Amino acid sequence: MIDIHHHLLPGIDDGSRDIAISVAMVQMAVDEGITHIVATPHANHAYSYDRARNQALLDEVRAALPAATAERITLGLGCDFHLNFENVEDAQKNRDRYTINGTEYLLIELPDFNIPTRIEEVLYNLRVAGLTPILTHPERNQTLQRTPERLQEWIASGLLVQVTAGSVTGTFGSKAKDMAWSLLRSGSVHFLATDAHDTLRRPPKMLEAWQQVEKRMGKAVADQVCVNNPLSVFEGRPLPPSAMVVERNDASADVGSPFWRRLFRHS
Ligand SMILES: [Fe+2]
Repeated sequence: MIDIHHHLLPGIDDGSRDIAISVAMVQMAVDEGITHIVATPHANHAYSYDRARNQALLDEVRAALPAATAERITLGLGCDFHLNFENVEDAQKNRDRYTINGTEYLLIELPDFNIPTRIEEVLYNLRVAGLTPILTHPERNQTLQRTPERLQEWIASGLLVQVTAGSVTGTFGSKAKDMAWSLLRSGSVHFLATDAHDTLRRPPKMLEAWQQVEKRMGKAVADQVCVNNPLSVFEGRPLPPSAMVVERNDASADVGSPFWRRLFRHS
């Protein structure tokens, strides 16, 4: 499995506190069957994002791994990108500063409760700048839990979606779990990821989610969201064709064509 969302770097955000915890997080991920991790520190008002510093920290983590662990994991660098004005301005000018491994793919985090104003326009402008936004854990956002049709419209327009593995298994509560499975059943999930922050409360666990998706939706779908799609992102390739048999109740497909819709598409 490939984990594209993991707060692995020590001491710079609300993720790993120190290098020993970072090493333990990698070990736990390897034991789960994870082969690639993207370290994605926050870039928001609380935590600044310095690509060179983060790359140096990633190198430190890699150097601290026991040889047997290092052999079994590939580490990459991205960002848990908050949609504030300064960030968006900077990302449009400096694409590679925030994206996963310098590819076009950019993780976008939402607040837990609300939706930033004019989000459609912001996502559109990022797309125009050559970035491919991946919306992280919409199933945990209380506004989207109440208005899932808004998310479905974005997805119909080509937005990529990452759901947290813990939402699938229920560790984020019943509302997040219900929405995670609803999104999976409608073919609206492109990636599962751990969004790990430590080894206890928010551990890098993904295997149980893979198993549950495999049991309910088949191995092809589980592999698509846990392996094939995230590996394409890690390596900067287009996503492979979908393996999902979609149960889409997609009213948004018939709505008008907002100005941002056309360029939001991936092909
Ligand atoms: Fe995160």
